[in-house]
Amino acid sequence: MKITSAEFVKSAFSEKDWPRAPLPEVAFLGRSNVGKSSLINSLLGVKGLARTSSTPGRTQALNFFLINRRFHFVDLPGYGYARVPKSIREEWGEFVTAYLANRERLVLSIHILDSRHDPTQLDVQLSEWLSAHGRPALRVATKADKLSRNELRRNLRRASEVLGAAGEPARLVAYSAVTGAGRDEVWRAISEAVAVSHPPR
Ligand code: GTP
Ligand code: MG
Repeated sequence: MKITSAEFVKSAFSEKDWPRAPLPEVAFLGRSNVGKSSLINSLLGVKGLARTSSTPGRTQALNFFLINRRFHFVDLPGYGYARVPKSIREEWGEFVTAYLANRERLVLSIHILDSRHDPTQLDVQLSEWLSAHGRPALRVATKADKLSRNELRRNLRRASEVLGAAGEPARLVAYSAVTGAGRDEVWRAISEAVAVSHPPR
């Protein structure tokens, strides 16, 4: 997809802040520090639109970006960051869950994993939760540039077994925000999801 415009719209701290424009939304979610914001910037070919950080827990609200004036990207706060107090962790959980459960115009959830590590229990729970709620999901294993080809292949196979359901391995797209590997495949999935909900006139 050709990107003609990408702009930050707003940070939402509660449901009343969600944008009213009836546009399809694509959400980016995953553990703290896996590279959600970096994936957004890499897909858009911009630096620094979504704020990234080597400090986990940087993204603390739902951040909405308007792409090509046609759909929204939503950068969600990461989960599973142990140093955040439990009360805040629970509040974040509720806040993100409310969005994922209730937002009708959410057409695709991009679940991001770190290709270096096995999926955590929270990753498995998220994966099961999305499918139980009938949410179309794309799983992306990022930071692929940090692994050798063999390590990557091995880790993808393991992750796809851990996240698979009913004996079916899950599909994972290997990605690198550094090299751009996987970009076309992720865009293909986004374009399809957005077109189905919002066909171009
Ligand atoms: P939170 O918002 O804190 O949950 O983090 P996030 O998931 O948005 O992660 P972010 O994009 O801020 O990236 C975290 C760190 O990983 C940063 O130091 C990034 O530069 C690095 N990073 C992200 N993607 C890649 C990648 O594909 N390759 C490499 N080598 N580093 C990456
Ligand atoms: Mg972030």
